[in-house]
This record gives sequence, C-alpha cells and structure tokens, in this order.
Amino acid sequence: MRRSFTLVDVLLLLALFIDAPWAIRGNSHCQWGNPAVIRPHSVAITEFGAVGDGVTLNTKAFQNAIFYLNSFADKGGAKLFVPAGQWLTGSFDLISHLTLWLDKDAIILGSTNSDDWPVIDSLPSYGRGRELPGRRHKSLIYGRNLTDVIITGDNGTIDGQGSIWWNWFRNETLDYTRPHLVELMNTTGVVISNLTFLNSPFWTIHPVYCSQVIVQNVTILAPLDSPNTDGIDPDSSDDVCIEDCYISTGDDIIAIKSGWDEYGTSYARPSKNITIRGLVGQTTSAGIAIGSEMSGGVSEVHAENLTFYNSTTGIRIKTAPGRGGYVRNIYISNMSLTDVKTAIRFTGQYGDHPDESYDPKALPLIERITIDDVTGQNVKYAGLLEGLEGDTFLDICLSNINLSVTSKSPWNCSYIQGYSEAVSPEICEPLRETIIPDHYSGCYYPSHHLQSSSNETEVLDCLGKFMVA
Ligand SMILES: *[C@@H]1O[C@H](CO)[C@@H](O)[C@H](O)[C@H]1NC(C)=O
Ligand SMILES: *[C@@H]1O[C@H](CO)[C@@H](O)[C@H](O)[C@H]1NC(C)=O
Ligand SMILES: *[C@@H]1O[C@H](CO)[C@@H](O)[C@H](O)[C@H]1NC(C)=O
Ligand SMILES: *[C@@H]1O[C@H](CO)[C@@H](O)[C@H](O)[C@H]1NC(C)=O
Ligand SMILES: *[C@@H]1O[C@H](CO)[C@@H](O)[C@H](O)[C@H]1NC(C)=O
Ligand SMILES: *[C@@H]1O[C@H](CO)[C@@H](O)[C@H](O)[C@H]1NC(C)=O
Ligand SMILES: *[C@@H]1O[C@H](CO)[C@@H](O)[C@H](O)[C@H]1NC(C)=O
Ligand SMILES: *[C@@H]1O[C@H](CO)[C@@H](O)[C@H](O)[C@H]1NC(C)=O
Ligand SMILES: *[C@@H]1O[C@H](CO)[C@@H](O)[C@H](O)[C@H]1NC(C)=O
Ligand SMILES: *[C@@H]1O[C@H](CO)[C@@H](O)[C@H](O)[C@H]1NC(C)=O
Ligand SMILES: *[C@@H]1O[C@H](CO)[C@@H](O)[C@H](O)[C@H]1NC(C)=O
Ligand SMILES: *[C@@H]1O[C@H](CO)[C@@H](O)[C@H](O)[C@H]1NC(C)=O
Repeated sequence: MRRSFTLVDVLLLLALFIDAPWAIRGNSHCQWGNPAVIRPHSVAITEFGAVGDGVTLNTKAFQNAIFYLNSFADKGGAKLFVPAGQWLTGSFDLISHLTLWLDKDAIILGSTNSDDWPVIDSLPSYGRGRELPGRRHKSLIYGRNLTDVIITGDNGTIDGQGSIWWNWFRNETLDYTRPHLVELMNTTGVVISNLTFLNSPFWTIHPVYCSQVIVQNVTILAPLDSPNTDGIDPDSSDDVCIEDCYISTGDDIIAIKSGWDEYGTSYARPSKNITIRGLVGQTTSAGIAIGSEMSGGVSEVHAENLTFYNSTTGIRIKTAPGRGGYVRNIYISNMSLTDVKTAIRFTGQYGDHPDESYDPKALPLIERITIDDVTGQNVKYAGLLEGLEGDTFLDICLSNINLSVTSKSPWNCSYIQGYSEAVSPEICEPLRETIIPDHYSGCYYPSHHLQSSSNETEVLDCLGKFMVA
C-alpha cells in the first residue's frame, strides 16, 4: 500500500460512505461553469471594416465591434467572429459575456509598432514592471474586471510577432516591460480553448487576480531561445484548470506565481486550487515552475499526466529570502521526462528582487510537496534540492521515481526534510526515511486522488491502518 492518508482524506472518505455529494469531485475534465455557451448575438469583424490582408491595421475595427457588442452583455452576451485571413491589430479590450471566436485559418497578428500596445500601470502585487521599473505595455488581448469571457475557435491562431520585442529586449532599447499576448485581470469565468498561440512578446497567457479559469486544448509555440516567453502563468488566481495542451517555448511551460516580495505580501492574493493534466512540451527552462514570485502564497496545485522532453528542468520551485509567502500542498504525479537536465529542482536563493526595500527576514514557507510516479530517460541530475539555512523545506515526499541518470552525483540536497519510497537512483540522505503511517499527516495527497483509486475494501483496509497508526 503506497498511498498514504491524511486525517482530511479519512474524513472525506467517511463522508463518501454517508453519501455526501460535496465530497465527490469530478474526475477527468476541467469543470465547466456553462458547458455549451450559446451567444444569442454574433457579428463578424468584417462588418466593422476590418481587412484581413496582414497589412491593414484593424485595432479600430476590433474596438468598435466590441463596443457595439457591449449592448448585448445583459442579453445573454455576444460572439465576435474572426474569419480566415490575417488580421493585424494593436491591443484591444474584451468585455463580459463575450466569445471571441477564430475560425480555421484566422490569424490575429500583433502589430510590430510598440505604439499600438499602450502603456498601462504595473500590477500592484509586483510594485513595478516585471523587467523594468515603472509601467508596462498592455497585452494584445486584454480584459479587466470582467465575468464570462471565452476565447476559442477552430484552431485559429493568435500570433504576437514577438521577435521584434525580443530584439528590443536584447539590445536594451525598451522603456517599459514587454506585453503579454493575452492578459485577463480580476476576471471570473474564463475559457481559452481550441486555439494556437504563437510568438508572444513576453509571457503568453497571463490570468492575474482571476477565478474559474479553464485553458484547454491549446498549442503555444515560441522559439526555444526567445526570452521569457512562458506558456501559461496563473498569477494570484484560483480555481484554474489547464488540460490537454502542447507548449514549446523559451521559458517555463507553466509558471504559477503570486506577486513579488513586499508588494506581493501586502497585496496578499494567493494562487490556489490549480489543476494541470495532460500537458506535453519542451523548453529551455522548467515544465512546471512555482515562483519565483510567490509572495502571496501558492497552494493546492495538482498536476498529473505530464510529458516533458528536451528541457532544462521538469519541476522547479524558486524562491528567496525577502519573498515571504508559502508554497504548500503540491501534488505532482505521473511525469515522464526525456532528455531533461534536472528532473526536480528547488532553489531557495533565487534572488531577483523588485528593489532594495524587501525584508531579508521575510522567509518563504515551503512544505508538503509530493512528487509521485516519475520516469526519465537521459536525465543528468535527478534532484538539486536546495532549501534555506534556518528555513528548511519540510515534508518533501518523493515516491516511485525511476530515472536513468548520467551524473555520478544525481541528488544534491541541503536544508530539506522529508520521506521517500521506491526512488532510483538512491535518494539523498535527508529524504531517505521511508513513507510509513507515522508520516501520513506529513506527506500531501489530494483527496480526489484517493477516491478515484479506492474501492470500499481498500478504503476500509486503509482506515484500519490509519486508526492503528
Ligand atoms: C477595475 O476596477 C478597479 C477597482 O474598482 C477600477 O479602479 C478600474 O478602473 C476598473 N477598470 C476597468 C477597466 O474597469
Ligand atoms: C474587480 O472587478 C469588479 C467588477 O467585476 C470590481 O467591482 C472590483 O472593484 C474589481 N477589483 C479590483 C481590485 O480591481
Ligand atoms: C481540440 O481543438 C481542435 C481544434 O483546434 C478540435 O478539432 C478538437 O476537437 C479539440 N479537441 C478537444 C478534445 O476538444
Ligand atoms: C492546431 O494548429 C497547430 C499549429 O498549426 C498545430 O500544431 C496543431 O496540431 C493543431 N491542433 C489541432 C488539434 O489540430
Ligand atoms: C534594437 O533592435 C531593434 C529591433 O531589431 C532595431 O530596430 C534597433 O535598430 C536596435 N537598436 C540598437 C541600438 O541596436
Ligand atoms: C473544442 O472543440 C471541440 C470540437 O469542435 C468541441 O467539442 C469542444 O467543445 C471545444 N472546446 C471548448 C472548450 O470550446
Ligand atoms: C477547484 O477548482 C475547480 C475548477 O478547476 C472547481 O471545480 C473546484 O470546485 C475547486 N475546488 C475547491 C475546493 O474550491
Ligand atoms: C491520465 O491519463 C490516463 C490515460 O490517458 C487517464 O486514464 C487518466 O484519467 C489521466 N489522469 C488525469 C488526472 O487526467
Ligand atoms: C500517465 O500519463 C500518460 C501521458 O499523459 C498517460 O498516457 C498514462 O496513461 C498515464 N498513466 C496513468 C497511470 O495515469
Ligand atoms: C532541444 O533544445 C535545444 C535548445 O535547448 C534546441 O536547440 C534543439 O533543437 C531541441 N531539440 C529538439 C529535438 O527539438
Ligand atoms: C527503471 O526503469 C528501467 C528502464 O529504464 C527498468 O529496466 C527498471 O526495471 C525500472 N526499475 C524499477 C524499479 O521499476
Ligand atoms: C477492491 O480491492 C480489493 C483489495 O485490493 C480487491 O480484492 C477487490 O477485488 C477490489 N474490488 C473491486 C470491485 O475492484
């Protein structure tokens, strides 16, 4: 019996037997607020004078179409249809109860003139632009204070034409932080699906201060050497579900964040309840990263069925003294790695502060991280796990890990405490104690996982063991 149980699990299991509906979670798909949203009103972007020749700038057409559709927001919402063609545009704002629909062979192209990406305030949880002090460019597709927003289609494309921004970044000629391809701020009920996203100037999809976000069945591509082109960055957001995506970019495939040092601490909006499954990709950075901005806290991250290849790191947690905040209750399971330099990496001394005003005594709390079921071929290091002196990372539980490694010292651990079971190559000394019932309350396992893998006999058997323990 390799699954371990927490008291919470046991209570949830008991609840199952007394038929409590709240204890039963959906198992295989992102939950839908409204599965088949039909918008009663629909217009095509061509009705607003847009020209899909790849040369005409259509910013006004997008803005006018959306302004017009605003009058239907309280009448069931509306759909903006983008037909086949190349629709060059600068930034435009979405509204509530809107579906932006891109047909097959529809391509929205980001303008290569930075004036078409206006400058807006930095995020309060960052205190400044992420890469330069001060304000930042607005994303190509932007939304704020909204509810019920859908960006979907028949595999149409949203192409940021980011290479010009990457060059401006490299030759240090930018005045403000680069824009995202899609940013939704303070929005509830977001679906982004069935599309391809190319060449974002900076992070590709950025939900920040959002709830109930689904990203499903999307392809995100940017060159492996493009700077900071993260795939999806849930940031100070909750109830996020990311499913069945292929992502190949120049920075983290998914990076979960929640604000930067003292700004993130005072904004105090965590990222929590983030589900990721069926993710495939490659990157010069990490498959799933948490941090380095995590000052508002990150918890309840459940990621399963992950396939990363040709990447620098599989799972990475990045933090630093000064961040404060926490990363806890993280469950990663069923990850397959091929040609990856480091399978699991924790970095306590990431550095990288917004300014000199951070409190070096604000130490992050990193605890209850479970990584189960990992296989790897041609991996160099199994784990480089560096906690902080005086701030040990706690209850790190690694099980069923089988990596074929090339380095002679595959594990390197410092300021780490936890348990392990069935790990090859042999794990570092601080994690060598086996996962036994005494540690059931230490290791983190989400309850739905138990429910989907248990039958009554097994459950009763485990309850028995728990009671004995
Ligand atoms: C969003 O709400 C905030 C706070 O109420 C307000 O300051 C801001 O102007 C709003 N922005 C938009 C675009 O509605
Ligand atoms: C978030 O949006 C709602 C409207 O949807 C608004 O009332 C609220 O003030 C906004 N909050 C912030 C912090 O922008
Ligand atoms: C994924 O999106 C494509 C179009 O991009 C669509 O044909 C396919 O049915 C979608 N798959 C699922 C499972 O939604
Ligand atoms: C969508 O288009 C992208 C880019 O052309 C392609 O890689 C991907 O396989 C397509 N997805 C589907 C589901 O057809
Ligand atoms: C920086 O890169 C941009 C875009 O490639 C180019 O237009 C510009 O001339 C470059 N500036 C300098 C100072 O190298
Ligand atoms: C994606 O496309 C498929 C096939 O058209 C459709 O069944 C599914 O509902 C779409 N998914 C979303 C989230 O729009
Ligand atoms: C977690 O988020 C999902 C949506 O992805 C939602 O259905 C579920 O109710 C949330 N769970 C909790 C405990 O809030
Ligand atoms: C993982 O993939 C398997 C096989 O495709 C599927 O049966 C299982 O439900 C998936 N698990 C999750 C959590 O999506
Ligand atoms: C693990 O994930 C892979 C890839 O998504 C899937 O094919 C496989 O069935 C999963 N295994 C289990 C036990 O869920
Ligand atoms: C693997 O990644 C490197 C960059 O790290 C890139 O040059 C190479 O083309 C990638 N290989 C494949 C098979 O994509
Ligand atoms: C680990 O994987 C190798 C193949 O890469 C296999 O030969 C070996 O039996 C596996 N070990 C365990 C304990 O599953
Ligand atoms: C439940 O688990 C027990 C013990 O592993 C096994 O003997 C039994 O066949 C299982 N029952 C079902 C219905 O899967």
